[in-house]
Amino acid sequence: MPENKVSAEATPAPISAMEKRARLKEILRKKREGGGASAHNGGMEKPQQKHIDTRHYHFDQDPDVVAHRAQHTALAKLKLNNPFFVVNQGIARGTTQIDGQEYINYANYNYLGLSGDQRVTQAAIEALETYGTSVSASRIASGERPVQRDLETELAKVYQVEDCAVFVSGFATNVTVIGHLFGPNDLILHDELAHNSAIQGALLSNAKRISFPHNDTAALARLLAQHRDSHERVLIFIEGVYSMDGDIADLQKFVALKKKFKTYLMVDEAHSFGVLGARGYGLREHFEIAGTDVDIWMGTLSKTLASCGGYIAGSGALIEYLKYTAPGFLYSVGITPPNAAASLAALKIMEAEPDRVATVCARADQFRELAAKSGLDIGMSQQGSAVIPIVVGNSMLSIALSNALFAKGINVQPVLYPAVEEDAARLRFFITSAHTEAQVVQTVEIISDEFSRLKEAVQ
Ligand SMILES: Cc1ncc(COP(=O)(O)O)c(C=O)c1O
Repeated sequence: MPENKVSAEATPAPISAMEKRARLKEILRKKREGGGASAHNGGMEKPQQKHIDTRHYHFDQDPDVVAHRAQHTALAKLKLNNPFFVVNQGIARGTTQIDGQEYINYANYNYLGLSGDQRVTQAAIEALETYGTSVSASRIASGERPVQRDLETELAKVYQVEDCAVFVSGFATNVTVIGHLFGPNDLILHDELAHNSAIQGALLSNAKRISFPHNDTAALARLLAQHRDSHERVLIFIEGVYSMDGDIADLQKFVALKKKFKTYLMVDEAHSFGVLGARGYGLREHFEIAGTDVDIWMGTLSKTLASCGGYIAGSGALIEYLKYTAPGFLYSVGITPPNAAASLAALKIMEAEPDRVATVCARADQFRELAAKSGLDIGMSQQGSAVIPIVVGNSMLSIALSNALFAKGINVQPVLYPAVEEDAARLRFFITSAHTEAQVVQTVEIISDEFSRLKEAVQ
């Protein structure tokens, strides 16, 4: 093709300013006739804006926000105090200070009383003085601090697995790890009482998600038989001790199913670490299984380990992959040195002082026994766990009972619908090794008296 032909076709012929204006006018006219544009407005065309309801851009009018606020109004009408967000004025262990008064405290997971232990505090102070308050970026960017790696190494030893990765939040650990490892071709089977963080992770992953009846391995086996073959990876998610009910997963049966159906098994040890097993090593020690029988051990640093963060322990391949690719590790700051140091010190004290583990179990058993003798409903709470619900069966009555106990010097939180079914609304007691036998006796007596009084009052 001749060169001049190419340039003649590729380059439009220059047009005059008058022609330009005429063409622009023609374009605007066509646009107007095509509809959508507004009438004359000085030559400028504006698209007509759809009316947007103020409820969709003012939070104080948002239907969900309004419904939530209505609950506070209902509490005020019933002359009940909001039991949430009470301000603790010191270290919360077996007791706590609120409004200048001491309360027997069942509203925290300081299972071994190690948050506030002088040795843990000192370890945090030393790390703070050495490395500062923040590492300011993810570990891949800002590098390592020895205390972060030391904690991971010790946790991997506890689980008898190759490696461990520590994240900045327990909640975010479940979300990012489950969300990252699984995808649309996969299946996540989780206990129906699984913690919200695991559900959020499953939703994020876009995998198919099915919940199985609580702790029911026969039902899980049926689901696996039905669905295993139509998916690539399958994850079974369970918890060591269930946080609302205080019962324990039958780990050996889950391990057998995982092996039979060639799936992954993930165990969340938030409430079992530090409480189950003679040394507090959790479900693995309690059931005497090999650490490698579970693919993904998850735990939090916020409860027994007296700090803030989460961890995953497992094979070297898994941990390396997560450290280089899991968004919540890769794109989030590394754990602060004081937090890592606090957990490391807490872990060492737990190992050196197994009496703490024996004490928390003994107090929990004492509480369960006395409560059951008093005719209180402790739900499914099982020997060995430090979570004990007192099922009240009604959200407002649960708040009223929590208020009544508070007035008698006991700090305990209600758990309400929708966190549990309305007829399962409850008070939830977390026992710690710092509680005394006398406090447990006194508490159960007061619950029993106040609950009877309130039930009579509403009849
Ligand atoms: C079972 C379970 N998993 C995960 C978490 C989240 O841990 P964290 O509060 O340390 O973020 C919790 C919190 O209570 C929990 O109960």
